Amino acid sequence: MQSSGRADQAQIQGPGNFERKRGRAEAGAGAVRTAVHADRLQNARICNLRRKKDMRIYEANDYQDMSRKAANILAAQIILKPDCVLGLATGSSPIGTYDQLVEGYNRGDLNFAEVKTVNLDEYIGLDHENDQSYYYFMHSHLFDRVNIDPANTNVPDGMAEDIDAECERYEKLIRSLGGVDIQLLGIGRNGHIGFNEPSDIFDKMTHCVDLTESTIEANKRFFASADDVPKQAVSMGIGTIMKAKKILLIASGEDKADAVAQAFFGPVTPEMPASILQFHSDVVVIADSAALSKCPK
Ligand code: GLP
Repeated sequence: MQSSGRADQAQIQGPGNFERKRGRAEAGAGAVRTAVHADRLQNARICNLRRKKDMRIYEANDYQDMSRKAANILAAQIILKPDCVLGLATGSSPIGTYDQLVEGYNRGDLNFAEVKTVNLDEYIGLDHENDQSYYYFMHSHLFDRVNIDPANTNVPDGMAEDIDAECERYEKLIRSLGGVDIQLLGIGRNGHIGFNEPSDIFDKMTHCVDLTESTIEANKRFFASADDVPKQAVSMGIGTIMKAKKILLIASGEDKADAVAQAFFGPVTPEMPASILQFHSDVVVIADSAALSKCPK
């Protein structure tokens, strides 16, 4: 993504009009919602990004159903390209998906021997042994439960002495792996992806983030108190995320309904970071009925 200054990137208005089609998803995936965006986005001033014409939004019944559908897509990726690069996420949303992948591995359907992973983000100041670090999360929910080579797993180092150098290293690492084949994303209640918080610009590359009060508030449930939640994180940038060949966003529960509706049926604006995904050419959203409850019918 190329930027020509803050003003260019802020408040890209649209899309306004949508046609929505309801149909049947393949493989019994349930209802599929397709958003076809109006032409108003065509002239939006984001450089080098193709406007999305057809975004697939699959409706899942509940969290379990969402997790199974998301895991099916990741499993297909691993089967089709055993040495693929998976972009991975943390939070409550992907836990069920990881459980399903572990089940697939235990059944003998999935082999992680050649799979490589890059995680979206990490808190600054939490070491690997800290059970709230995303490194720890990934090992306990996925890496230690399948036959992945730990050397092929990557999480930004939130303990790096020079965080700017770490951001650069991470960005280069992703490039050296040949880019991300499929990026799994959750969505924050304020529309953040990774730790890209609402802002007046879309941050491009891996960078250091000051977490917003609303994110600290949302994530304090994992810590003893809000004061214990780190105030900063390292996160892939919006530009990094947008370079992934395919994006899979999952959302569950009513508290995500506003973010999902605004991200996929509202204007593309850095105030709603996930809205940038309307410009990605290959996005699948799997959300349960509660998370889709505020989307236009
Ligand atoms: C965190 C992570 C995000 C995640 C979001 C939503 O802030 N950095 O990557 O998507 O929370 O989390 P949850 O899935 O727990 O709602």
